[in-house]
Amino acid sequence: SFEVEIGSTGQILEIPANKTVIEVLETFDIEIPFSCESGVCGTCVTRVLDGIPDHRDFFLTEEEKAQNNIFTPCCSRAKSSRLVLDI
Ligand code: FES
Repeated sequence: SFEVEIGSTGQILEIPANKTVIEVLETFDIEIPFSCESGVCGTCVTRVLDGIPDHRDFFLTEEEKAQNNIFTPCCSRAKSSRLVLDI
């Protein structure tokens, strides 16, 4: 598991291994637009302010992935213990 911090509020949410970031956000009524939920469409792309994503999508280019400043919360996870999101 890893943690997601909501950049605008400082709220910290635990993301368990069996849930996506989008699923956990929804349980706290934090809505991010999404569509495919499988890393293909790019609808959910979200800015990352701090931390290192574990990119699992097929949408971002390798260059975009290497910059670690955006990720797809429908399927991607984290290599660092916490991701701070620009939401
Ligand atoms: Fe399609 Fe995340 S919802 S890439």
